Amino acid sequence: MKKYKIAIIKGDGIGPEIIDEAIKVLDAVSINSDCEFSYKEYLMGGNAYEITGDPLPHETIEGCKNSDAVLFGAIGGEQWDSLPRDKRPESGLLRLRAALDLYANFRPVKVYEELVDASTLKREVVEGVDLLVMRELTGGLYFGEPREKGEDKAFNTMVYSKREIVRIAKMAFESAQKRRQKVCSVDKANVLEVSQLWRETVEEVAKDYPDVSLSHMYVDNCAMQLVRDPKQFDVILTGNIFGDILSDEASMISGSIGLLPSASVGGVVGLYEPIHGSAPDITGQGIANPIATIASASMMLRFALGEVEAADKIDRAIDRVLKEGYRTKDISSFGAKEICSTTEIGSIIADYASK
Ligand code: IPM
Ligand code: MG
Repeated sequence: MKKYKIAIIKGDGIGPEIIDEAIKVLDAVSINSDCEFSYKEYLMGGNAYEITGDPLPHETIEGCKNSDAVLFGAIGGEQWDSLPRDKRPESGLLRLRAALDLYANFRPVKVYEELVDASTLKREVVEGVDLLVMRELTGGLYFGEPREKGEDKAFNTMVYSKREIVRIAKMAFESAQKRRQKVCSVDKANVLEVSQLWRETVEEVAKDYPDVSLSHMYVDNCAMQLVRDPKQFDVILTGNIFGDILSDEASMISGSIGLLPSASVGGVVGLYEPIHGSAPDITGQGIANPIATIASASMMLRFALGEVEAADKIDRAIDRVLKEGYRTKDISSFGAKEICSTTEIGSIIADYASK
């Protein structure tokens, strides 16, 4: 029996509700497999600030480092918006990314056939979309120095070293090899020096991957192409701020932000989380869609733990639940046979995944 230590960060808002469902599914899938999970909870975000005065207590970093993987819900809420930047929930997450060296952020966007009509885009545009946004996560504008907020002037710095570009580019090319062998590197090389270095470096790395075709696109054009013809993309490789923006845009191709998982990797321990936020407006109502978090748990099994069979079971269970018409409220207008609460849909997925 293989035993895995999972660090759990429930976070704020709907975080606890959706994480509970993912744990339910993980436990169910372990029944008929040879792996077992133990969980330890850590604080991060607004709740961590309330309890400890710090959105990322030291204990959380240590606990994550000593686990096999981290499963994370969501953070944030209006009540913490006026705090100084380093006390805000978001700063907890940014510091954790840096502390664990999670430089590669995988944001796959896949369209479930049953939910094609949930997209605001036309059926023929989105049907069959299957792309991956590979976002650099620990550099660029988010972390660049110097940075300063003055009264009349404020600035941030977009900086990338060659080393940082090389390692994220390698990740993108390796992912493309397992997909449709296409990388589109997105930058603003017509304006920014940092993007010129990005482009040159990606070109160099590409030489080691002759089986993958590389194209370049300016970020403004990419934003437009994503809604014009998203099927042209396989892997989109880009920096931190462009990836933040483009991945939100790309998520809407699928129609529901409640379905998409993500993985942040690079260092020793990876972090797996839904791409949506903490949704304070629906917290505690039992209507949050736990599927993105459950799909993130599946990504964790596949990428961090190598438990491919268990991951497949979860993915098939999600597919089946959607095919059979079980829907949480957010996607209830599209092919619903039965409207389920957060825990109800979690239980059905758990049941299917256990078989
Ligand atoms: C994301 C989020 C974060 C980011 C915030 C919460 C700091 O928008 O994961 O995309 O900007 O990276
Ligand atoms: Mg974002």
